[in-house]
Amino acid sequence: MAQTQEQTVSTGDTPFVPIEKIVSLCKRRGFVYPNSEIYGGVSGIYDFGPLGVELRNNIRRFWWWSMVQTNDNIVGIEGSIITHPRVWEVSGHVENFVDRLVDCKNCKRRFRYDHLPEENVRQNKCPVGGGELTEPRKFNLMMETYIGMLEGERMKTYLRGEASQNIYLDYDNVLKSSRMAIPFGICQIGKAFRNEVTPGNFLFRQREFEQWDLQFFVHPSQMQQWFDYWKERRFEWYKSIINHKDRLRFRAHGPDELAHYAKQAFDIEYQTVLGWQEWEGIHWRQDWDLSRHSDYSGQDLSYTDPETKERYIPWIVETSGGVDRTFLNLLLDAYEEEPPSGKDKEGRTVLRLNPMLAPVKVAVLPLQKNKEELVTTAKELHHKLRRLMDSQYDDVANIGRRYRRQDEIGTPFCVTIDFTTLEDQTVTVRDRDSMSQIRLHMNEVPAYLLERVR
Ligand code: GAP
Repeated sequence: MAQTQEQTVSTGDTPFVPIEKIVSLCKRRGFVYPNSEIYGGVSGIYDFGPLGVELRNNIRRFWWWSMVQTNDNIVGIEGSIITHPRVWEVSGHVENFVDRLVDCKNCKRRFRYDHLPEENVRQNKCPVGGGELTEPRKFNLMMETYIGMLEGERMKTYLRGEASQNIYLDYDNVLKSSRMAIPFGICQIGKAFRNEVTPGNFLFRQREFEQWDLQFFVHPSQMQQWFDYWKERRFEWYKSIINHKDRLRFRAHGPDELAHYAKQAFDIEYQTVLGWQEWEGIHWRQDWDLSRHSDYSGQDLSYTDPETKERYIPWIVETSGGVDRTFLNLLLDAYEEEPPSGKDKEGRTVLRLNPMLAPVKVAVLPLQKNKEELVTTAKELHHKLRRLMDSQYDDVANIGRRYRRQDEIGTPFCVTIDFTTLEDQTVTVRDRDSMSQIRLHMNEVPAYLLERVR
């Protein structure tokens, strides 16, 4: 199949956006803040601001709609972050969820062994100064916590290292309570925690992050067919929300990089200034999870086919992606700095986000803020629109500055109330991407916008 090969296609003419520009925009405009900043921050942990939370909710909502709402054979759950500690022993995470690290004996820098260039692994040399490297040492990524107050009664457990374990734990309950039959899927969006030794690149590698998972349960004989199906569906899903379609590809995992639970795996990768990097993993988990939990809990998790009466442990296709990585990739994909042109003499920064995902859908702007009739009419329209979509009212600064402020946060439409509005009830609707403007009657605005932002 074409998509199983590496697709190293041209990246087009648009240069990659440096991460620093996104970090700065996110802080300045209220998308993302460093966590506990007044105390110096915590590496690899972030908070989301007013615009960030809207964008994140829109991203999550679209995933949920595509995966759960529009598939009759998929349901959702929301599991807890803390589970019984046996879950993580049985899942293999306590033993196998490790990063191998090496130190340079000269400069004392530390590297993830699997991130070293091949040449440096072969020569056992530091990629920075060329010094000799130590033997790789294993570090477990699971974050520990304790349940209970009293010494002796406290139980050590873990914050979940992958959100998907809840789905295996709830599989039998879902099966019995929701009349699902194989093949069927369970979805979840939820936080995961990893003691990443090298967090970095902003939201790309964090210690607290959010994942979305589909675990699709199938008969073993249908595994290949469903694996191919979900691989293709997920690839098309990501393609549908980005502008730079040629920056998306599949990469097959080599045998030495497969996670302990996977028999085969493909990453959907996106190319940014960080190079080609994983966005979502499609994993052939087979019967690893249900067999292990069945064996160790003593609860039979096998499935009996209602028609043939065949009993078997279902096999699992997993599609597991990151909400935060989607957030970051969408910003990197959408960010553009346009030089001055005929239409805009100062140039502008614009986020060409898919209108459906943009945090603010429309800004309502009175041409002047000292003309009461303009302000009253604009506020009335804003109040009408905000019941239908994220609408902002803005009357600060000249109209050009206000357009640029909205472009920078990706608002697809600006509606301006001017003196003609007071005469004939028409308004200007400006399109973010083309900067073109049309005039519409005010009554037509809600339907016009809804059609374009939903
Ligand atoms: N249940 C399978 C699983 O957890 P994974 O490839 O380790 O697989 C799935 O993670 C997705 O979670 C990745 O494709 C990535 O988008 C996101 N992810 C993983 N580690 C992350 C981290 N430290 N920071 C942000 N996102 C992360």
